[in-house]
Amino acid sequence: MARRKIVAGNWKMNKTPSEAVALVEELKPLVASEDVDVVFCVPAIDIIPVVEACKGTNIQVGAENMYFEESGAYTGEISPAMLTDAGIKYVVLGHSERREYFAETNETVNKKMLKAFEHGITPIMCCGETLEQREQGVTMDFIRQQVKVGFMGVTADQAKASVIAYEPIWAIGTGKTATTEQAEEVCAGIRACIAEIYDEATAEAIRIQYGGSVNAGNAAELFAQADIDGGLVGGASLKADFGKIVNYK
Ligand code: 13P
Repeated sequence: MARRKIVAGNWKMNKTPSEAVALVEELKPLVASEDVDVVFCVPAIDIIPVVEACKGTNIQVGAENMYFEESGAYTGEISPAMLTDAGIKYVVLGHSERREYFAETNETVNKKMLKAFEHGITPIMCCGETLEQREQGVTMDFIRQQVKVGFMGVTADQAKASVIAYEPIWAIGTGKTATTEQAEEVCAGIRACIAEIYDEATAEAIRIQYGGSVNAGNAAELFAQADIDGGLVGGASLKADFGKIVNYK
């Protein structure tokens, strides 16, 4: 069975609550699609108004991060139950910006993965190499480690329902997209890694996105690759172009 494409916007640290609602209103008609899952991953403070604004549409709302404890003395953090109660279906975990600026590790990402599944939230787990790693020829070794540790203790059924986003760090926000061949090669490598950890059926079911300077001009070619099941989109998710990416065909 063909995997359903999933196109998610990662708004990062952009849009106040009122700006967020205005953006949803602008994008709503543009992202209507019966063929593709559409997700807006938004800053925590925007979640409640964005969930409200997306009611009755095809848009699902995701968070950009989540803590791995249930509740308690963790000042500034957001719990999984807070997210589900607010209507969240997806959560981005282990984005390279969180790994780089907020000291997230494969181990903390793994704890968050397990917690997300416990609460019925679908993780979009990010992985991706630096330019230096690519030049040293260790891209796949590095990503396999991220995937293997990230999925420790995750069951095959949970893995089948999850999303992995391959985002080469050198392609994020740089306008320098990976070539279609580079993106497909790594996404296929990630699928092979999932087959090794679990089995072919799990590898066939899991959805793998490409992220990194996806735009209205390159989405169609990227998403047409055998192992690329959609995209995680930063900058272009904040404008009307996102509608073109969702309706890439
Ligand atoms: P850009 O699309 O702005 O390159 O960002 C990609 C990204 O980091 C999505 O999570």
